[in-house]
Amino acid sequence: MKYTNQKIVLKNRPVGFPSINDFEIVNETIETINYGEVIVKILWLSLDPYMRGRMSEAKSYALPLQLGDVITGGAVGKVVFSNCPKYKQGDIVEGFTLGWQEYAKISTNNIRKIDTNLAPIQTAVGVLGMPGMTAYFGLFEVCKPIPGDNVVVSAASGAVGQLVGQLAKIAGCNVIGIAGTEEKCKYIKKILNFDEVINYKKDNVYKKVKEYCPDGVNIYFDNVGGKISDDVISNIAPFGRIGVCGVISQYNLTEMEAGMRVQRAVLTNQASVEGFLVFRFEQRYPIARKRMASWLSKGQLIWKEDIVNGLDKAPEAFIGLMKGKNFGKLLIKVSD
Ligand SMILES: NC(=O)c1ccc[n+]([C@@H]2O[C@H](COP(=O)([O-])OP(=O)(O)OC[C@H]3O[C@@H](n4cnc5c(N)ncnc54)[C@H](OP(=O)(O)O)[C@@H]3O)[C@@H](O)[C@H]2O)c1
Repeated sequence: MKYTNQKIVLKNRPVGFPSINDFEIVNETIETINYGEVIVKILWLSLDPYMRGRMSEAKSYALPLQLGDVITGGAVGKVVFSNCPKYKQGDIVEGFTLGWQEYAKISTNNIRKIDTNLAPIQTAVGVLGMPGMTAYFGLFEVCKPIPGDNVVVSAASGAVGQLVGQLAKIAGCNVIGIAGTEEKCKYIKKILNFDEVINYKKDNVYKKVKEYCPDGVNIYFDNVGGKISDDVISNIAPFGRIGVCGVISQYNLTEMEAGMRVQRAVLTNQASVEGFLVFRFEQRYPIARKRMASWLSKGQLIWKEDIVNGLDKAPEAFIGLMKGKNFGKLLIKVSD
Protein backbone atom coordinates (compact mmCIF):
# COMPACT_ATOMS: atom_id res chain seq x y z
CA MET A 1 0.00 0.00 0.00
CA LYS A 2 1.36 3.39 -0.99
CA TYR A 3 -0.57 6.57 -1.73
CA THR A 4 0.84 9.94 -2.77
CA ASN A 5 -1.40 12.48 -1.12
CA GLN A 6 -1.73 16.11 -2.14
CA LYS A 7 -3.11 18.20 0.70
CA ILE A 8 -3.74 21.85 1.50
CA VAL A 9 -2.33 23.04 4.82
CA LEU A 10 -2.60 26.23 6.85
CA LYS A 11 0.52 28.28 6.15
CA ASN A 12 -0.35 31.50 8.00
CA ARG A 13 -3.15 32.47 10.32
CA PRO A 14 -5.37 34.84 8.34
CA VAL A 15 -5.67 38.41 9.59
CA GLY A 16 -9.05 39.75 8.47
CA PHE A 17 -10.20 38.08 5.25
CA PRO A 18 -8.09 35.02 4.41
CA SER A 19 -5.75 35.31 1.40
CA ILE A 20 -4.33 32.71 -0.98
CA ASN A 21 -0.95 33.06 0.77
CA ASP A 22 -2.44 31.67 3.99
CA PHE A 23 -2.64 28.23 2.34
CA GLU A 24 -0.05 25.90 0.85
CA ILE A 25 -0.21 22.72 -1.24
CA VAL A 26 1.98 19.93 0.17
CA ASN A 27 2.63 16.33 -0.95
CA GLU A 28 3.11 13.37 1.37
CA THR A 29 3.24 9.60 1.09
CA ILE A 30 0.93 7.34 3.08
CA GLU A 31 2.47 3.91 3.55
CA THR A 32 1.04 2.52 6.79
CA ILE A 33 -2.30 2.36 8.54
CA ASN A 34 -3.28 1.05 11.96
CA TYR A 35 -5.99 -1.44 12.82
CA GLY A 36 -9.37 0.31 12.75
CA GLU A 37 -8.27 2.77 10.10
CA VAL A 38 -9.06 3.12 6.40
CA ILE A 39 -7.74 5.16 3.48
CA VAL A 40 -10.47 7.31 1.94
CA LYS A 41 -10.15 8.80 -1.53
CA ILE A 42 -11.85 12.19 -1.27
CA LEU A 43 -14.53 12.83 -3.89
CA TRP A 44 -16.34 15.91 -2.53
CA LEU A 45 -15.26 18.59 -0.07
CA SER A 46 -17.64 20.78 1.83
CA LEU A 47 -16.51 24.38 2.37
CA ASP A 48 -18.21 25.94 5.38
CA PRO A 49 -17.96 29.34 7.08
CA TYR A 50 -17.08 27.82 10.51
CA MET A 51 -13.70 26.81 9.07
CA ARG A 52 -12.62 30.44 9.29
CA GLY A 53 -12.84 30.17 13.10
CA ARG A 54 -10.54 27.14 13.13
CA MET A 55 -7.87 29.11 11.24
CA SER A 56 -7.66 31.58 14.17
CA GLU A 57 -6.12 30.96 17.54
CA ALA A 58 -9.13 32.38 19.35
CA LYS A 59 -11.03 30.04 21.67
CA SER A 60 -14.09 28.54 20.02
CA TYR A 61 -16.20 25.40 20.17
CA ALA A 62 -13.78 23.67 17.76
CA LEU A 63 -10.05 23.40 18.43
CA PRO A 64 -7.90 25.76 16.32
CA LEU A 65 -5.78 24.30 13.53
CA GLN A 66 -2.02 24.48 14.00
CA LEU A 67 0.21 25.93 11.28
CA GLY A 68 1.07 23.12 8.85
CA ASP A 69 -2.12 21.16 9.63
CA VAL A 70 -4.28 19.98 6.76
CA ILE A 71 -7.42 22.13 6.64
CA THR A 72 -9.98 19.86 8.26
CA GLY A 73 -13.56 19.83 7.08
CA GLY A 74 -16.44 17.66 6.02
CA ALA A 75 -16.02 15.49 2.94
CA VAL A 76 -17.44 12.50 1.10
CA GLY A 77 -15.15 9.82 -0.27
CA LYS A 78 -14.61 6.19 -1.20
CA VAL A 79 -12.76 3.64 0.90
CA VAL A 80 -9.77 2.47 -1.17
CA PHE A 81 -7.92 0.51 1.52
CA SER A 82 -9.31 -0.91 4.76
CA ASN A 83 -7.81 -2.23 7.96
CA CYS A 84 -11.19 -2.39 9.69
CA PRO A 85 -13.59 -5.35 9.40
CA LYS A 86 -16.65 -3.05 9.27
CA TYR A 87 -15.49 -1.26 6.10
CA LYS A 88 -14.60 -2.60 2.69
CA GLN A 89 -13.10 -1.18 -0.49
CA GLY A 90 -15.70 0.81 -2.41
CA ASP A 91 -17.78 1.90 0.60
CA ILE A 92 -18.89 5.52 0.27
CA VAL A 93 -18.36 7.41 3.52
CA GLU A 94 -18.73 10.85 5.04
CA GLY A 95 -16.63 12.37 7.79
CA PHE A 96 -16.32 15.73 9.48
CA THR A 97 -12.51 15.69 9.64
CA LEU A 98 -11.51 14.16 6.31
CA GLY A 99 -10.10 17.49 5.16
CA TRP A 100 -8.72 19.28 2.13
CA GLN A 101 -6.71 16.45 0.59
CA GLU A 102 -6.83 13.68 -2.00
CA TYR A 103 -6.50 10.77 0.44
CA ALA A 104 -7.30 10.68 4.14
CA LYS A 105 -5.99 8.09 6.57
CA ILE A 106 -8.68 8.03 9.21
CA SER A 107 -10.07 6.00 12.10
CA THR A 108 -13.45 4.50 11.24
CA ASN A 109 -14.76 6.04 14.48
CA ASN A 110 -14.71 9.33 12.60
CA ILE A 111 -16.64 8.33 9.47
CA ARG A 112 -20.05 6.91 8.64
CA LYS A 113 -21.27 4.90 5.67
CA ILE A 114 -23.66 6.74 3.40
CA ASP A 115 -26.92 5.32 2.13
CA THR A 116 -26.25 5.97 -1.57
CA ASN A 117 -29.92 5.33 -2.44
CA LEU A 118 -31.16 8.42 -0.58
CA ALA A 119 -29.79 11.12 -2.90
CA PRO A 120 -26.55 12.03 -4.76
CA ILE A 121 -23.64 11.27 -2.45
CA GLN A 122 -22.48 14.88 -2.04
CA THR A 123 -25.76 15.68 -0.27
CA ALA A 124 -24.21 13.85 2.72
CA VAL A 125 -22.34 17.10 3.42
CA GLY A 126 -25.23 19.27 2.27
CA VAL A 127 -28.97 18.96 2.57
CA LEU A 128 -28.63 15.53 4.27
CA GLY A 129 -25.54 16.55 6.22
CA MET A 130 -24.41 19.27 8.59
CA PRO A 131 -26.07 22.28 6.84
CA GLY A 132 -29.35 20.38 6.42
CA MET A 133 -29.34 19.30 10.06
CA THR A 134 -28.61 22.90 11.10
CA ALA A 135 -31.62 24.20 9.17
CA TYR A 136 -33.90 21.42 10.40
CA PHE A 137 -33.08 21.51 14.12
CA GLY A 138 -32.42 25.25 14.22
CA LEU A 139 -35.82 25.99 12.81
CA PHE A 140 -37.98 23.25 14.34
CA GLU A 141 -36.29 22.82 17.74
CA VAL A 142 -34.89 26.26 18.48
CA CYS A 143 -37.26 28.64 16.68
CA LYS A 144 -40.41 26.47 16.95
CA PRO A 145 -42.49 27.74 14.02
CA ILE A 146 -46.28 28.09 14.23
CA PRO A 147 -48.36 28.33 11.02
CA GLY A 148 -48.79 31.99 10.08
CA ASP A 149 -45.57 33.12 11.79
CA ASN A 150 -43.47 35.74 10.02
CA VAL A 151 -40.06 34.10 9.60
CA VAL A 152 -37.02 36.13 8.51
CA VAL A 153 -33.83 34.32 7.48
CA SER A 154 -30.51 35.93 6.56
CA ALA A 155 -27.93 34.47 4.10
CA ALA A 156 -31.13 33.10 2.59
CA SER A 157 -29.70 31.62 -0.62
CA GLY A 158 -26.86 29.80 1.15
CA ALA A 159 -26.54 26.21 2.32
CA VAL A 160 -28.47 26.65 5.56
CA GLY A 161 -30.65 29.64 4.60
CA GLN A 162 -32.21 28.16 1.46
CA LEU A 163 -33.43 25.20 3.54
CA VAL A 164 -34.64 27.23 6.52
CA GLY A 165 -36.94 29.26 4.27
CA GLN A 166 -38.33 26.20 2.50
CA LEU A 167 -38.87 24.30 5.77
CA ALA A 168 -40.65 27.34 7.21
CA LYS A 169 -42.93 27.34 4.14
CA ILE A 170 -43.65 23.64 4.74
CA ALA A 171 -44.55 24.64 8.32
CA GLY A 172 -47.08 27.16 6.97
CA CYS A 173 -45.15 30.36 7.71
CA ASN A 174 -44.76 33.63 5.85
CA VAL A 175 -41.08 33.74 4.84
CA ILE A 176 -38.84 36.73 4.17
CA GLY A 177 -35.31 36.02 2.91
CA ILE A 178 -32.37 38.41 3.07
CA ALA A 179 -29.52 38.02 0.55
CA GLY A 180 -26.76 40.04 -1.05
CA THR A 181 -27.46 40.07 -4.82
CA GLU A 182 -30.44 40.55 -7.14
CA GLU A 183 -29.78 37.12 -8.68
CA LYS A 184 -29.95 35.43 -5.28
CA CYS A 185 -33.08 37.40 -4.32
CA LYS A 186 -34.79 36.48 -7.59
CA TYR A 187 -33.95 32.81 -7.06
CA ILE A 188 -35.34 32.58 -3.54
CA LYS A 189 -38.53 34.41 -4.50
CA LYS A 190 -39.26 32.82 -7.89
CA ILE A 191 -37.85 29.29 -7.51
CA LEU A 192 -37.98 28.69 -3.75
CA ASN A 193 -41.28 30.60 -3.34
CA PHE A 194 -40.28 32.72 -0.38
CA ASP A 195 -42.98 35.36 0.16
CA GLU A 196 -40.67 38.38 0.15
CA VAL A 197 -36.97 39.10 -0.32
CA ILE A 198 -34.66 41.88 0.78
CA ASN A 199 -31.35 42.73 -0.89
CA TYR A 200 -29.38 44.03 2.09
CA LYS A 201 -26.81 45.71 -0.15
CA LYS A 202 -29.52 47.82 -1.82
CA ASP A 203 -32.55 48.02 0.45
CA ASN A 204 -33.09 49.58 3.87
CA VAL A 205 -33.42 46.34 5.84
CA TYR A 206 -35.20 47.90 8.85
CA LYS A 207 -37.86 49.59 6.68
CA LYS A 208 -38.39 46.56 4.43
CA VAL A 209 -38.81 44.19 7.38
CA LYS A 210 -41.32 46.63 8.90
CA GLU A 211 -43.20 46.81 5.59
CA TYR A 212 -43.34 43.01 5.14
CA CYS A 213 -44.04 42.24 8.82
CA PRO A 214 -46.23 45.09 10.13
CA ASP A 215 -47.13 42.99 13.20
CA GLY A 216 -43.50 42.09 13.80
CA VAL A 217 -41.11 39.22 13.15
CA ASN A 218 -42.08 36.06 15.03
CA ILE A 219 -38.91 34.16 14.12
CA TYR A 220 -35.53 35.44 13.07
CA PHE A 221 -33.09 32.74 11.94
CA ASP A 222 -29.82 34.63 12.18
CA ASN A 223 -27.00 33.45 9.93
CA VAL A 224 -25.05 36.70 9.76
CA GLY A 225 -25.17 38.94 12.87
CA GLY A 226 -24.13 42.60 12.65
CA LYS A 227 -26.21 45.46 11.23
CA ILE A 228 -28.64 43.22 9.30
CA SER A 229 -29.56 41.46 12.53
CA ASP A 230 -29.92 44.73 14.45
CA ASP A 231 -32.45 45.85 11.83
CA VAL A 232 -34.43 42.62 11.97
CA ILE A 233 -34.40 42.32 15.78
CA SER A 234 -35.61 45.93 16.05
CA ASN A 235 -38.80 44.60 14.38
CA ILE A 236 -39.24 41.57 16.65
CA ALA A 237 -42.84 40.66 17.55
CA PRO A 238 -44.09 40.00 21.08
CA PHE A 239 -42.72 36.62 22.20
CA GLY A 240 -40.57 36.43 19.05
CA ARG A 241 -37.83 33.78 18.83
CA ILE A 242 -34.34 34.57 17.60
CA GLY A 243 -32.20 31.57 16.71
CA VAL A 244 -28.55 32.61 16.47
CA CYS A 245 -27.01 30.16 14.03
CA GLY A 246 -24.03 32.10 12.68
CA VAL A 247 -22.42 35.53 12.58
CA ILE A 248 -20.56 35.48 9.27
CA SER A 249 -20.47 39.28 9.12
CA GLN A 250 -18.13 39.13 12.13
CA TYR A 251 -15.79 36.26 11.22
CA ASN A 252 -13.22 38.40 9.40
CA LEU A 253 -13.30 41.52 11.57
CA THR A 254 -10.01 42.57 13.10
CA GLU A 255 -11.78 44.81 15.64
CA MET A 256 -15.16 44.39 17.30
CA GLU A 257 -17.91 46.44 15.63
CA ALA A 258 -19.84 48.92 17.73
CA GLY A 259 -23.52 48.28 17.08
CA MET A 260 -26.92 49.39 18.22
CA ARG A 261 -28.40 47.89 21.40
CA VAL A 262 -31.20 45.39 20.74
CA GLN A 263 -31.90 44.52 24.38
CA ARG A 264 -34.77 47.01 24.62
CA ALA A 265 -36.61 45.35 21.69
CA VAL A 266 -35.92 41.93 23.23
CA LEU A 267 -37.12 43.03 26.67
CA THR A 268 -40.25 44.95 25.70
CA ASN A 269 -41.36 42.14 23.39
CA GLN A 270 -40.37 39.40 25.83
CA ALA A 271 -38.48 37.81 22.94
CA SER A 272 -36.08 34.92 23.42
CA VAL A 273 -32.60 34.64 21.94
CA GLU A 274 -30.94 31.24 21.70
CA GLY A 275 -27.59 30.40 20.18
CA PHE A 276 -27.18 26.81 19.06
CA LEU A 277 -24.57 24.45 17.64
CA VAL A 278 -25.99 21.73 15.45
CA PHE A 279 -23.97 18.98 17.20
CA ARG A 280 -26.36 19.31 20.14
CA PHE A 281 -28.86 17.34 18.05
CA GLU A 282 -26.46 14.69 16.71
CA GLN A 283 -28.32 11.74 18.26
CA ARG A 284 -31.38 12.63 16.19
CA TYR A 285 -29.69 13.24 12.81
CA PRO A 286 -30.95 9.92 11.33
CA ILE A 287 -34.60 10.89 11.88
CA ALA A 288 -34.12 14.36 10.41
CA ARG A 289 -32.16 12.93 7.47
CA LYS A 290 -35.06 10.60 6.60
CA ARG A 291 -37.58 13.44 6.70
CA MET A 292 -35.38 15.73 4.61
CA ALA A 293 -34.75 12.94 2.07
CA SER A 294 -38.49 12.33 1.78
CA TRP A 295 -39.22 16.05 1.15
CA LEU A 296 -36.40 16.08 -1.41
CA SER A 297 -37.71 13.06 -3.29
CA LYS A 298 -41.23 14.55 -3.43
CA GLY A 299 -39.87 17.85 -4.74
CA GLN A 300 -41.04 19.72 -1.64
CA LEU A 301 -37.43 20.74 -1.00
CA ILE A 302 -35.13 22.08 -3.70
CA TRP A 303 -31.39 22.04 -3.13
CA LYS A 304 -28.92 24.33 -4.89
CA GLU A 305 -25.22 23.51 -5.03
CA ASP A 306 -22.34 25.69 -6.18
CA ILE A 307 -19.69 23.27 -7.46
CA VAL A 308 -16.04 24.20 -8.04
CA ASN A 309 -13.75 21.64 -9.71
CA GLY A 310 -10.31 20.76 -8.31
CA LEU A 311 -8.77 20.51 -4.85
CA ASP A 312 -6.33 23.31 -5.68
CA LYS A 313 -9.29 25.70 -6.08
CA ALA A 314 -10.41 25.22 -2.45
CA PRO A 315 -8.58 28.25 -0.96
CA GLU A 316 -9.92 30.67 -3.60
CA ALA A 317 -13.43 29.26 -3.28
CA PHE A 318 -13.26 29.53 0.52
CA ILE A 319 -12.22 33.18 0.32
CA GLY A 320 -15.17 33.72 -2.05
CA LEU A 321 -17.53 32.12 0.48
CA MET A 322 -16.52 34.75 3.03
CA LYS A 323 -17.48 37.44 0.48
CA GLY A 324 -20.79 36.00 -0.76
CA LYS A 325 -19.43 34.73 -4.10
CA ASN A 326 -21.04 31.32 -3.61
CA PHE A 327 -24.62 30.81 -4.74
CA GLY A 328 -25.96 27.77 -2.92
CA LYS A 329 -24.01 25.12 -1.00
CA LEU A 330 -20.32 25.47 -1.84
CA LEU A 331 -18.65 22.16 -2.75
CA ILE A 332 -15.31 21.20 -4.25
CA LYS A 333 -15.38 18.25 -6.63
CA VAL A 334 -12.01 16.63 -5.95
CA SER A 335 -12.32 13.44 -7.97
CA ASP A 336 -14.82 11.25 -9.90
N1 LIG B 1 -24.67 26.91 14.53
C1 LIG B 1 -24.29 25.91 13.77
O1 LIG B 1 -24.20 24.76 14.20
C2 LIG B 1 -24.01 26.20 12.32
C3 LIG B 1 -23.92 25.17 11.37
C4 LIG B 1 -23.72 25.50 10.02
C5 LIG B 1 -23.59 26.83 9.65
N2 LIG B 1 -23.65 27.79 10.62
C6 LIG B 1 -23.55 29.21 10.26
O2 LIG B 1 -24.63 29.50 9.38
C7 LIG B 1 -24.27 30.57 8.52
C8 LIG B 1 -24.52 30.16 7.07
O3 LIG B 1 -23.65 29.08 6.75
P1 LIG B 1 -23.76 28.37 5.33
O4 LIG B 1 -22.90 27.18 5.38
O5 LIG B 1 -25.18 28.22 4.98
O6 LIG B 1 -23.06 29.43 4.37
P2 LIG B 1 -23.68 30.09 3.06
O7 LIG B 1 -24.89 30.85 3.46
O8 LIG B 1 -23.79 29.06 2.00
O9 LIG B 1 -22.52 31.09 2.62
C9 LIG B 1 -22.26 32.22 3.35
C10 LIG B 1 -23.10 33.40 2.86
O10 LIG B 1 -23.08 34.41 3.86
C11 LIG B 1 -23.34 35.64 3.25
N3 LIG B 1 -22.43 36.66 3.80
C12 LIG B 1 -21.09 36.69 3.74
N4 LIG B 1 -20.62 37.79 4.35
C13 LIG B 1 -21.69 38.46 4.80
C14 LIG B 1 -21.85 39.67 5.52
N5 LIG B 1 -20.81 40.42 5.89
N6 LIG B 1 -23.11 40.08 5.82
C15 LIG B 1 -24.18 39.34 5.44
N7 LIG B 1 -24.09 38.18 4.76
C16 LIG B 1 -22.85 37.75 4.46
C17 LIG B 1 -23.08 35.48 1.74
O11 LIG B 1 -24.33 35.56 1.06
P3 LIG B 1 -24.90 36.99 0.55
O12 LIG B 1 -24.48 37.15 -0.88
O13 LIG B 1 -26.36 36.83 0.71
O14 LIG B 1 -24.29 38.05 1.41
C18 LIG B 1 -22.51 34.08 1.64
O15 LIG B 1 -22.86 33.46 0.43
C19 LIG B 1 -22.81 30.89 8.81
O16 LIG B 1 -22.75 31.99 9.70
C20 LIG B 1 -22.31 29.64 9.49
O17 LIG B 1 -21.22 29.87 10.33
C21 LIG B 1 -23.84 27.50 11.92
